[in-house]
Amino acid sequence: MNHKRPPVIAGNWKMNGTSEMVRQFSESILNNVWDENLKQCEIIVCPPAPLIPLFCENASQAAFVVGGQDCHSSESGAYTGDVSALMLKDVGCNSVIVGHSERRISYNEINSTVKLKASAAKKAGLTAIVCVGETQDQKNDGETVEIVTTQVLESIPESASDIDTMIAYEPIWAIGTGKIPKINEIANVHNAIRGAVAKSKGAEVAERIRILYGGSVKPDNVAEILSIDDVDGALVGGASLSSNDFWSLCTNAAKLFAMLSRKV
Ligand code: 13P
Repeated sequence: MNHKRPPVIAGNWKMNGTSEMVRQFSESILNNVWDENLKQCEIIVCPPAPLIPLFCENASQAAFVVGGQDCHSSESGAYTGDVSALMLKDVGCNSVIVGHSERRISYNEINSTVKLKASAAKKAGLTAIVCVGETQDQKNDGETVEIVTTQVLESIPESASDIDTMIAYEPIWAIGTGKIPKINEIANVHNAIRGAVAKSKGAEVAERIRILYGGSVKPDNVAEILSIDDVDGALVGGASLSSNDFWSLCTNAAKLFAMLSRKV
């Protein structure tokens, strides 16, 4: 974490949740002791599409914003079951996850698909959270940096900037498994991602763009992960489903950022 880049904690509910869970989640914020430090953090919750409007209503009273989990690359049309970036914006989202490995794997999304979705998000006025990450085999073969930097370069639009784009490094083998890379491995990949962004978008964008880590982030490991200089936040799956875990994770991140900011 770097004091110049406000941290982002994004919760990805995936295909989980009910309207009752949204209500409980929103109440939990109002009932929790409100930590001033949290205001320095950008907190995003990405529920499944049907719960987005309810979340947006509740978000207006609380310190988080709402994001989608995916969007189509077209604004509208005959795409049964899909949701456009424009629709997400229309119901109150400010961001959308694109290229999550679960979509890359289950729906054969490739970098060029992800790039079109990220472009659609930008056009609709949403921040795209572009996900990248290697498989266990690719890691074992020492290909992590090459795979991940190629995904970054091919998945983010030409005109992407730090305002409309974030990158989430999520090693596929770390998602939902309780396993995380070694701290120096995360540092190395994040540093390589920032280097790739510098080459393609220039030093200023690279310096400001937020690069999140995702994969088995929990309240008790978030501080260690976020203390890496090039890690600017976390994309959280399982732990975002429990309001207690999610808010303690956010509080731990915010405390760390407040400490860093005081040091400079
Ligand atoms: P877990 O936090 O459950 O490992 O999920 C990470 C993830 O896929 C977030 O998008």
